[in-house]
Amino acid sequence: MWDQHPLTAVARYPAALRLLHWLVVLLVALQLTLALINAIYYERTPGLAEAAVQAHISVGVLLFGLMLLRLGVRLTRPVPPLPEGMGRAKRRLAHATHAALYVILVALPVTGWLKLAALGYPASVFGILPLPVFEFMPDVARRARNAHELLALALGGLLVLHVGAALFHKRLAGAAVLPRMGIGQTP
Ligand code: HEM
Repeated sequence: MWDQHPLTAVARYPAALRLLHWLVVLLVALQLTLALINAIYYERTPGLAEAAVQAHISVGVLLFGLMLLRLGVRLTRPVPPLPEGMGRAKRRLAHATHAALYVILVALPVTGWLKLAALGYPASVFGILPLPVFEFMPDVARRARNAHELLALALGGLLVLHVGAALFHKRLAGAAVLPRMGIGQTP
């Protein structure tokens, strides 16, 4: 749980969790970009929009697998406690935000797949692994689509809070939380 640095001992998340954190950040950014491409080019360039959807589905399944792996590692490996100087309310908020991010990042791909499956849309993971499809259930598809959109909005809100808090504690409150996720080192 403690990675030793030549000058200082920094409480860091285990290497596997740091790697998965930044891999998931990259994939979430990619997912957002693909969703935007689809929305922007849906009418103007349907071919491009369709390719973006297919990529969004494949990356979504990859993200889902990585999140399950991450959850498995998270629940079985010790992580460093939050910095001492943080008050109780802030600790609770940090834990709640992290837990909500895990739940949302698992639920987003599930609702995305459910939406397509209930429409009978033939999707596959990188053109190799076909995803299961149901019979046509428009009601289920509509609810899954609404849930997917709400979860995406909630993710956006939580990320503003999460990234803001990480930068705030780095720059203003002096708690230097960024090294815990592998960025830099404590002074
Ligand atoms: C898609 C974007 C992101 C997602 C989904 C995300 C998600 C998470 C989650 C779920 C945790 C909790 C880890 C755990 O307890 O297992 C976490 C921790 C952390 N994240 Fe992010 N994160 C994102 C972006 C960022 C960015 C851009 C930064 C830096 C500016 C950052 C800095 C941190 C830090 C420092 C921690 C450790 C907090 C602590 O001290 O316990 N994250 N992140």
